[in-house]
Amino acid sequence: MCGIFGYIGPHQASPILLEGLRRLEYRGYDSTGLAVKNGAISIYKKVGKVQQLREILPQTIEGNMGIAHTRWATHGGVTDENSHPHPSAQGKVVIVHNGIIENARMLRTSLNVQGVKLVSETDSEVLAHIIERELSIDDNPEEAVRRALRQARGTWGICAVFKDHDMIVCARNGSPLIIGQGINEMFISSDPHALTAHTQQVIYLEDGDLATLTATSVKLSTLTGGDSSTKGTTLENDWGESELGDYPHFMLKEIYEQPDALRHCINGRLDRTRGSGKLGGLKLSPAALAKVPHVRLLGCGTSYNAAEIGRLLIEKLARIPTFAHISSEFRHNDPVIHPSALHFAVTQSGETADTLSAIKEIQLKGGNVHGVVNVVGSSIARLCGRGVYIHSGPEQAVASTKAFSNMVAALSMFALQIGRSRNISKERGVELIHGLQQVPHLVESYLENQGPILEAVELVKNAKSVLFLGRGISAPVAKEGALKLMEIAYIPCLAYPAGEMKHGPIALLEEGSPVIFIAPNDHVKTKTASAIHECRARGAKIILIHEEGDEIAEEGDVCISVPPVHNLLSPLLTVVPLQLIAYHTALELGCDVDRPRNLAKSVTVE
Ligand code: F6R
Repeated sequence: MCGIFGYIGPHQASPILLEGLRRLEYRGYDSTGLAVKNGAISIYKKVGKVQQLREILPQTIEGNMGIAHTRWATHGGVTDENSHPHPSAQGKVVIVHNGIIENARMLRTSLNVQGVKLVSETDSEVLAHIIERELSIDDNPEEAVRRALRQARGTWGICAVFKDHDMIVCARNGSPLIIGQGINEMFISSDPHALTAHTQQVIYLEDGDLATLTATSVKLSTLTGGDSSTKGTTLENDWGESELGDYPHFMLKEIYEQPDALRHCINGRLDRTRGSGKLGGLKLSPAALAKVPHVRLLGCGTSYNAAEIGRLLIEKLARIPTFAHISSEFRHNDPVIHPSALHFAVTQSGETADTLSAIKEIQLKGGNVHGVVNVVGSSIARLCGRGVYIHSGPEQAVASTKAFSNMVAALSMFALQIGRSRNISKERGVELIHGLQQVPHLVESYLENQGPILEAVELVKNAKSVLFLGRGISAPVAKEGALKLMEIAYIPCLAYPAGEMKHGPIALLEEGSPVIFIAPNDHVKTKTASAIHECRARGAKIILIHEEGDEIAEEGDVCISVPPVHNLLSPLLTVVPLQLIAYHTALELGCDVDRPRNLAKSVTVE
């Protein structure tokens, strides 16, 4: 979603800002802009990609300080005027803003009454004008921002530059901002990935923080004018390359990174001697695990699908009631929170606003939440304080692939850990450990021999809709496959537990309708086979994901086999052909695989 990058230091700002924007591109956006100060403040903004902004910039823009933005439209259409940065009426202040100003309408009206003409339809622009108005009182930029934000209601990550002052003032409330401290230069970004090229020394602003940056200093305070307790930290070296390398798209690169990502996730977290998982970051003793009354998992999109698999594994191995919830629904249903229950927030970005709100709801009601998070130091990782990093490395394609696999792997290890504390034998635990340790190699061997993916693509690429069916642990895999194909190839997809198909979705089938079945060799396979027969009888074309050597292969029109694996871990194999079908279909249809329309990588609004 929207991204911010800022710079103040000895170098020309514009190339640094453009490179910062390029590194924020993966978050998803529809327009970009930057402002550079050199006496006056020059602003350039444009609908489209960073490259289109680059094309309208003059050869050189003099100036050693500036702010830049990628916008994902919420208030107001996708236009150049609505793009950020936004200047104030007299041009003394220029801002970029992420988040939503909830009382913008009221603030607009009062600015109009004072004779200020707003030029965009955005909620953000009001902040530039109010800061300018406040600046006229005492010419103190920090105080002006503080007073302005006290009039606003909503969420913000905001950076402001001033025509008459050499500083950047920024503030956070609900939208992440991270200061990067260089030598005689400072950076500000909404995403740590964009900072790693410049520095490892960072300060994650907390909600309510305000920071004033010069090239050589950072002054931290709070919105109320007190001292901030926020401290600096060193960014961990993310394993994994965040550049494209020889791959045509990030999505393909990330699909191929899954074996190594899985190795990073499980490395050092399995205890063969005890037949258990060893997730130290949870800080949960066996005694504590034995007393847990129930488990709730929260997530959105792909992370919710991973949570559903986690739910089944935990219930199966630990015999404890477990629920998966869509984060955006959770808070509004006034959930009952048990203080001894375990809650997990599952998220790649660690910034998803719906999941953040759900966590706050649980914490407000006295519950604890553990994170299952990819991005180290993200808002959710910090808010939870305890949890499991899934160690996927940077995921840049909007469609999540390797993070999904690592979420499932991390939740499998937790299921094993809690299962051993309550229910399963050491032998069963060791079996699962053995299975988990084989998975990276098995995914690798599948990737070397992918089967007739392109035949599947031929069947789905022009379909009116595609039905994905699976049972048991494969039902959430079906959902994940449908989500992938829908989001990057724009084909309407439906996912159902296979047994439910005859209760409704079967009405959609006609001669040639593609139906994708996920049918690993588990205890529900024969039931799935019945659903396949029912679809075939209505003329459907069956794309079947099955285990190598399994006789169920006779049931498919296009059969894609994956190596056999421990029954409870089949999602880690069966999801991979689904990711590849989505990727190649999108490619075939000429879609922007890595940046599908309307979507954002990090969804920071509710
Ligand atoms: C799908 C996808 C989204 C995200 C969802 C949650 O490929 O990427 O559905 O899974 O927006 O995002 P995180 O995991 O960052 O909380």
